[in-house]
Amino acid sequence: MRIGIVIGSTRPGRVGAGVGQWVHAVATSLGPAEHDGEAVEYELVDLETFDLDLLNEPTKPSVAGREYENAKTRVWSEKIDSIDGFVFVTPEYNHGVPAAMKNALDVLYPEWNHKGLSLVGYGADGGVRAIEHWRTIAANVHLHPTREQVSLSIFTEFGDDGFTPGERRSGELVALLNSLVRLTAATRALRS
Ligand SMILES: Cc1cc2nc3c(=O)[nH]c(=O)nc-3n(C[C@H](O)[C@H](O)[C@H](O)COP(=O)(O)O)c2cc1C
Repeated sequence: MRIGIVIGSTRPGRVGAGVGQWVHAVATSLGPAEHDGEAVEYELVDLETFDLDLLNEPTKPSVAGREYENAKTRVWSEKIDSIDGFVFVTPEYNHGVPAAMKNALDVLYPEWNHKGLSLVGYGADGGVRAIEHWRTIAANVHLHPTREQVSLSIFTEFGDDGFTPGERRSGELVALLNSLVRLTAATRALRS
């Protein structure tokens, strides 16, 4: 099983890359025994490197049958197709999801269908409004979110020294990953 950890901020000076690296480091420290015997490969997916244009496909992604006109969309489509479940590492911008990340979701459709999703958010209020917003969006592309989430405080866990997760966080993240792997395994039947 492949799990993609999507770094959702593309902003210069972003703190999100450090959060993504922390998620990846904790995830790769876990073995099959901690995942019901499932062999899991975790991969960082940095949205910034895909340099996606603002939705410029003439055909609606839900009916395009993966036939995209833009080479950048095709590269993104192949990447998302190759992954079974996701951790979205999301900032909160103006009480909602970040526009670049929403665009990255909007530009595809079948590639997201019937896969697992977990949310790691950060912000003044732990990014909880963006997390909840993602849950509503996820429903429309048949991404199935876990109840478990990680909600990081921009005030206490980020500073001049970068990102320092609070002591409860790695336990919360392991619980999230366990749930995500089980849910993602269950979605296989829906995809076949
Ligand atoms: C355009 C913009 C809007 C923001 N709006 C919010 C917000 O609504 N809630 C919040 O908690 N933080 C907000 N912030 C502060 C972010 O939490 C903070 O800048 C964080 O570092 C953003 O993540 P990033 O650095 O990975 O892009 C906003 C930041 C930006 C740039």
